Amino acid sequence: MKLSDIHQLLTHMTLREKLAQLTQLTPLSFGHNRNADLTGPDAGLRIPAQDSPHIGSALNCVGADDVLFVQSQHMKNSDYAIPLLFMADIIHGCKTIFPIPLALACSFSPEDAEEAARIAAKEASVSGVHVTFSPMCDLVRDPRWGRVMESSGEDPLLNAAFAAASVRGYQGNDLSSPYSVAACVKHFAAYGAPEGGREYNNAELSQGTLEEYYLPAYHAAISAGASLVMASFNTIDREPVTASRRLLHDLLRKAWGFDGVIISDYNAVDELISHTAARNGAEAAQRSLHATVDVEMMSTHFINEGEALVNSGQLSAKDIDEAVLRVLLLKNQLGLFENPYKGADISEEKRLHRCEAHLTAARRIARSCPVLLKNENAALPFSSHEKIGLVGPFAKERRVMGSWSAGNFEGVSLYEGLCEQMNDSLIVSSAYSPLESLQNGFTDIESFNRETLAIELQDCQKVIVAVGENQDDTGEGASKSDLRLSHNQEELIHFIKSLGKTVITVIFSGRPLEITPILSDSDAVLQAWFLGSESGNALADLLLGVHSPSGKLSMSFPYSVGQIPVYYNLYSTGRPASRENPVRYSSRYLDCPNEPLFPFGFGLSYGSCIVKDLQFDTDNGLILRGEIKNTSQTPYTETLQLYLQQPFAQIARPVKKLVDFKRIPLAPEETLAFSFEISQQMLCYPLHGKQIFEEGDFICMVGTNSAQLQNLSFSLSKEQYQHLKRSSYDFEMFT
Ligand code: GLC
Repeated sequence: MKLSDIHQLLTHMTLREKLAQLTQLTPLSFGHNRNADLTGPDAGLRIPAQDSPHIGSALNCVGADDVLFVQSQHMKNSDYAIPLLFMADIIHGCKTIFPIPLALACSFSPEDAEEAARIAAKEASVSGVHVTFSPMCDLVRDPRWGRVMESSGEDPLLNAAFAAASVRGYQGNDLSSPYSVAACVKHFAAYGAPEGGREYNNAELSQGTLEEYYLPAYHAAISAGASLVMASFNTIDREPVTASRRLLHDLLRKAWGFDGVIISDYNAVDELISHTAARNGAEAAQRSLHATVDVEMMSTHFINEGEALVNSGQLSAKDIDEAVLRVLLLKNQLGLFENPYKGADISEEKRLHRCEAHLTAARRIARSCPVLLKNENAALPFSSHEKIGLVGPFAKERRVMGSWSAGNFEGVSLYEGLCEQMNDSLIVSSAYSPLESLQNGFTDIESFNRETLAIELQDCQKVIVAVGENQDDTGEGASKSDLRLSHNQEELIHFIKSLGKTVITVIFSGRPLEITPILSDSDAVLQAWFLGSESGNALADLLLGVHSPSGKLSMSFPYSVGQIPVYYNLYSTGRPASRENPVRYSSRYLDCPNEPLFPFGFGLSYGSCIVKDLQFDTDNGLILRGEIKNTSQTPYTETLQLYLQQPFAQIARPVKKLVDFKRIPLAPEETLAFSFEISQQMLCYPLHGKQIFEEGDFICMVGTNSAQLQNLSFSLSKEQYQHLKRSSYDFEMFT
């Protein structure tokens, strides 16, 4: 539709019809008896029949049949032929489910994220979805928070790279394509920093921390062209983001130039009252609209209060028109005025959903996500010809999809994956009792019979113990104060070890757990996360050595929950502690190390490498060159990481920060040259909304994880800085 026609449309709409266009409800709430997952409190919302034909968008109605029905009914009743926008949570896949985002980030492969998002977009679009509430770009440092599973972890660069890649995958080159969906960046901002890791809690952080750590990923997603932004539930500096004109209008729209749709989170406009930021629905609506929230999700204060607010001068009709225009322009970009049904197609669903090509991609992508944390006594890989034990609640568990898996609950179990590649007579499976959800009152698996188990496993030297947390105890509303495995799961590991077995602990979780208590009794530990549809097959590929693990932690594993928040890019403090020489008056704990159990960027493989011959090349800019040699007979992919430290600056600088990374496939005994170009953005830090470069000394650190690094120092003047390249990662959010 031409822009002039869109503007013309506005002139015909009444104020109430415009306010209805700014409202998103489930189809049931506006008169259509069709399915929609409720992802928040069920307030039994129903709106008057006369408003129904003017509602702007539908929440979580997925499926060609449902969408075709609801849209056709809507178009029939709509006075202006304005189609509904269908928005849904397609977070890590639609019907083909990929690893949870926290696991996907361990691949350090934004290309994989882009491919997964592309496949998700195709499967979602043929099911009638126009907008996905993804990527979630909330940086996280506290695994007590259930939604760390949805994040790309603790590092701003990794988050930014995955955010931009996901937007490219979802949106493709043409939003009106039947295989593209619009991306909605969420949750702006810093929802991933709830105090105490407690869901929906206040985010207590400085402006500098917000700018340096939490904002880059949202900015990268917007720079990649994301069409929408979702405002977050939390407060920052005593202001609920949903009502923050400073964050949504001044920063997002004016400073960053975002001109797309801002949508509230589920019922978040109404929750301004609980935040004590509004006395009633009218004030909640006024504050959100003034902050330039365009769409109210799952509450109806815009419709119910908006007319009085405009008529009393508390809101300008012009602001309402601007919000409606942004929604109509989005629908136009999606091609909905020409074709309200866009990609919805029942036969295409049958052709594309979980098709072989998608499942093959899901298996390959899933293989790059598990992280090998320990591997001693030749525990892994094991041969497909040796008899092995397989015990624990996740031995045969198919509920390995992770939270936000679009209503798909089962994938390939570990047992099924192993049977695919081994004679099942070689797999002695026992002690399997499912781990039910804490939310249903279950705290542990059934206790196992020691004598029986010892007899059953007598012919197995190696035993896989598959443990973890129930997938429903991760995601939204799933904060936990205790991150240990349940008692009987820990006991199972200890008992198997007491039998003299080689213990291979495989952990299924949506967050870093506190695994210190079981580490010494495990000869190998593989962090399996929740890998989605192809979980068991991908794990079998790794456990049997068909492929080598290559994942690197996107989030630190705490030594104990008492350490949290623990992350790699910390500040040294005025009294940095020394493990070698612990003194009382230093920044440390009496009963726990400062370092995490496993640091960001850490992950073993079946191969090994050395990094050598580091040197700077200053002929063209500033390039760090070196060589990496596979010192093993095993082909594998190593992820080389480049960190940077600025030993002195006007403000405290982290002891290191990730500034680049490269996945390098290595053949047996192969030596490859590598190079990292130092860019201007790598050397800057944000201060009061500006990117600051201070001339002086810097230290480059190169290695295969954030703790074991080789250093190379250099100094740089302002003059030299000017000759460096600008970064490939767009951090120019402040200029
Ligand atoms: C939820 C989540 C948000 C999701 C929305 C719609 O409460 O916070 O991530 O997209 O509601 O389901």
